[in-house]
Amino acid sequence: MKRAVCPGTFDPMTNGHLDIIERASAIFDEIVVAVALSPDKGGGPLFPLEERVAQAADATSHLPNVSVLPFDSLLVDLARQVGATVIVKGLRAVTDFEREFQMAQLNYRIDHEVETMFIVAIPEYMYLSSSAVKEIAGHGGSVQGLVPDNVNDRLVERLRGGR
Ligand code: PNS
Repeated sequence: MKRAVCPGTFDPMTNGHLDIIERASAIFDEIVVAVALSPDKGGGPLFPLEERVAQAADATSHLPNVSVLPFDSLLVDLARQVGATVIVKGLRAVTDFEREFQMAQLNYRIDHEVETMFIVAIPEYMYLSSSAVKEIAGHGGSVQGLVPDNVNDRLVERLRGGR
């Protein structure tokens, strides 16, 4: 039984994230999508943690071997807690590389028993990011097709001033 974690802030989950999770779920027996609290990222997340978890659970409900958990700890500690030996991350353009390389090195230093593996983004999602999605939606642009439908509905609501 090989279990992997797919961590991220997922503020919000994009179709790029979802593509990586779907591809990882075809490789591993079980995937735990780990949604980080990340209170300081980008001036604080748009969506509260519970909502990001609910959005991710809804977007991955078609994948029977995927579960979603919140976390606010070291990622390797969460991996140990859930019995995962692999961290799966998506890699887009070279701009991701330095940060991801640093995180992979540090995680390996903290816990040699957890390996990081990367799945390369498909060209369609190479330049897609949660922050770009929020910027487009924030200016009234459409992000349909860039995020799961449930996320699209919530983004429109939230950025129109709703809670
Ligand atoms: O989607 P993101 O914001 O790029 O995800 C980053 C995340 C949540 C994977 C990363 O910040 C993380 O692992 N946070 C948990 C704290 C931790 O373990 N830090 C040590 C690794 S440098």
